[in-house]
Parts: sequence; C-alpha cells; structure tokens
Amino acid sequence: MRYRLRPATAADAHEMFQTQTGAFGDVEGTLRWESARSYCFEHTEQHIVFVDESNHVAGLVHIHDHPIQVGLCAVRKADVGHVAIRPELQGQGIGTRMMQETVAWLRGEGYHLSRLGGRASFYSRFGYEPFPRRFVQIKLGPVPIGGGSALPASEAFADAGEWPGQVRPYDESRDLEDRTRLRWEYDHGRSGALVVERACHPGRHPAPPDAKALRWIYEREGEVLGYLHAVEAPLESTESETVFTIAEFAYAPAFPDAAGALMRMLLSRICDRGPARVTSRLPFDEALSEALVAAEVPHERLEMHQAMASNMILVANLEATLQAIAPELSRRLAGSLVADWEGAIELSLPAERCMLAVTGGEVCVTEEPVQPDLRLELTQAQFVKSLFGIAALTEMPPARASSLSPTLRGLLDALFPRLQAGSGPWG
Ligand SMILES: CC(C)(COP(=O)(O)OP(=O)(O)OC[C@H]1O[C@@H](n2cnc3c(N)ncnc32)[C@H](O)[C@@H]1OP(=O)(O)O)[C@@H](O)C(=O)NCCC(=O)NCCS
Repeated sequence: MRYRLRPATAADAHEMFQTQTGAFGDVEGTLRWESARSYCFEHTEQHIVFVDESNHVAGLVHIHDHPIQVGLCAVRKADVGHVAIRPELQGQGIGTRMMQETVAWLRGEGYHLSRLGGRASFYSRFGYEPFPRRFVQIKLGPVPIGGGSALPASEAFADAGEWPGQVRPYDESRDLEDRTRLRWEYDHGRSGALVVERACHPGRHPAPPDAKALRWIYEREGEVLGYLHAVEAPLESTESETVFTIAEFAYAPAFPDAAGALMRMLLSRICDRGPARVTSRLPFDEALSEALVAAEVPHERLEMHQAMASNMILVANLEATLQAIAPELSRRLAGSLVADWEGAIELSLPAERCMLAVTGGEVCVTEEPVQPDLRLELTQAQFVKSLFGIAALTEMPPARASSLSPTLRGLLDALFPRLQAGSGPWG
C-alpha cells in the first residue's frame, strides 16, 4: 500500500478522531477524549494526515506553529504532537514513513525548528535530539521552621502580605490594554519566549471581574504594574496532589513588589487545597527569583533532562535559522567589545553546515568559499540551547574543547550568550 502526506481537510476530521482516540486508547467522555475531539473537529487545519490510496486516514500529526523570539528576531518552530497511526496498522513501518515525510514537509514549509515529546529511541531516527525542559514550581507543603517542626501550608501561606499597592480581580474591560502592555514590556525581546504582540484586541463581550478566579491585577496609585492568571490543571492533578498552573504572568521589572504581591495572593487563595503544587513556565530570570524570595515565595527552578521519554528538538533548517537571526546577531556584535571583528565561523550540525561571515559589523550567512577562523561541530541540542540563550555557546563541550583565543571567546559570548531565557515554547 502506498501512503502520502497532505494537509488535513474538514472531510478527514472523523477518521482523524477515530485514529487518534484509537491509537491513544482514549475513553469516551474523558478529558483526553474531549480534547481529541476538539482538536480533530475544531482545529482540523492544524494537522497533516497520512492517507492511503483511497484517501483514508492511516495516521495524523498535529502541528502547532510557534514563533519564538531570539532577541528582537524570531524563528518558526513546528510543535509536533498527537503522532498516531490507526491501531490495526501499527507496527508495519507506516509511522516511520509518516514521520520521515513529516520532517521533509516541515523544512519545505519554512519551519526553522521542530519540537516534540516522545520516546527518544523512536524519534531520534528522524533526527530529533533530547532537549531540556524548564519549569518554575512552587510546592505548597509544610514549611520547616526549625527544631524539626513545620508549619502546615494552610498557615504558612495564608497571609497574602502587606504591599505598597493593591491586588484586585482582573477586569477585562478596564485592564486588557494594561495587561497587553505589561506582557510586551516583560517578554518582548526575551529569547526563548513566544513572540509577543503589542496590539491589544478587545473582545466584544469582555468577561466581568470574577472574585473567585485566580486572576488579578496589581496596581499602585492607579498604575497597573502586574498581572497574574492561574488555573487549576485537572489533567495534571492526582489523588494526592492538586496542580495549578500559571497561564500568564507579567510585571513591570522596576516594581518587584508587583511580582511578590500577585504570587502571595495566589498562594493565599490555594494554600488550603494542599498538598498542592503551582507549576509554571516563568522564565529563569534572576530579577524574578529575587522578587519572589524577597516576598517569601519559595520556588524551584527545574531543568529536566529526560533522555528516554523526552522533550526533543530538531533543527529543520540551519541556514534559514541563521538568516532569520542575523540582524539580532549584528545587534549583539555592535554592542560588544569585539564590534570590529571580521572573519567567519563555520557551524555544523549533524545534517547541515553553514558559514557565518562578519564584515563591516554585519553578520550574515555566506555561501562564499571562505576559510573560517573557527569551526564548531555541534549537536542540534547544543545549537538550540545557544540559540535561545538557555546556555552560552562557550559552555558547550565543542567550544570548551577548542582552544579559543580571548577574541574568539569574546565573539562567541557576544553572539550566543546565556540569557534570562523564556521557557515553555521549546520544552
Ligand atoms: C507511535 C506510532 C505512531 C508508531 O507508528 P507505527 O506505524 O506503529 O511505527 P512503525 O511500525 O513505523 O515503527 C514501530 C516503532 O515505533 C515504536 N513505538 C511504539 N509505540 C511507540 C510510542 N508510544 N512512542 C514512540 N515510539 C513507539 C516501536 O518501538 C517501534 O520501534 P522498533 O522499530 O524499534 O521496533 C504508533 O505506534 C502509535 O500510533 N502509537 C500509539 C500513539 C502514540 O503513542 N503516539 C506517540 C506519542 S509520542
């Protein structure tokens, strides 16, 4: 039987739904089953399908388009999910062919990167490499107070604290503009975070303030300085633990009290639901951690390296990625001590090799046959960590193994430094 890959159409929705729920064993009426239904019928166009000669769906892949910031530039990531083959067709090599064609399709569609989560032994065949995931987490458990005793969470976190400003329920009709502005100020230009829109799009029927929702504004003297929205995450909660997740958070960096007040308000509202945990994709940001510690909010920064069943990354097109970020690299170079450096660096990944040339303060990708000043052979994971500033390029083993001159070290640190990176979209 021959199969081909094509974008899904509304006519495929029913077979997609059967395939997905069948492959994952989703039981009718469960949250997962409802979610599959919503994806297949309401977001059909976000899928590609692998169809047989009679145009019937044998498999499907969900693709979410995520533009991720690299400083003031952006790269386009395909977030791949719901990879499924009709149960009766599994184990015959069809899933392998579908994924091979999917990877080629992603490159053809202009994606720079792709991410997915799954079994490393399967997805590594298509070039994906294990990649870390980051979470900032707050555990609402007993707080040790010395001498072997501990305060129960319901007491330790009950007080929302005294602040120079006020926390009040979010009021969409009044606060949307400020929320949009705060989000922009907090995340615009933050590598690793989704592209943030500055424009505000008011809905026609703004929701009224809801005193029960975990959604607040922090303001001082009429100025809105912070926004937090958390929700309960029933899919992650277990019998022994309730999980809450922070859906959106932003504050004016000059006012760390905004971060502290909002987080303490959240903890005070959920502390009697313990044992509980708040999980979030807040950035690993020194200023944020300082603000939370100052507000007596204990938190953990988790960087997971899952290895077997793992978050995975693929560079679909290195050349296009470097072209997309060249203006940001030129900006970084201009602000560095090596702004007048000229030369070339060759970056190679397992499947692709590119030359970055620097002339007249401009960084560009060149196909000219030039002799590079430095050659770095990187894994895709090493490259993407440097791309988003999750770690500096000079921290990566290939750079550490090269005997870099002080100038070349300065150049790499200028172009690919460790940053207060956003997390979530890449893992
Ligand atoms: C995973 C899946 C898409 C593979 O498709 P397939 O047509 O059965 O795969 P192939 O016949 O080409 O290859 C089978 C390989 O898939 C691997 N595989 C089976 N279940 C898998 C899973 N849940 N995740 C990843 N790989 C899986 C097998 O280990 C096998 O590896 P092998 O070749 O080393 O024996 C399909 O089995 C499926 O739909 N499974 C249920 C849904 C699912 O778990 N999706 C993956 C979510 S990450």
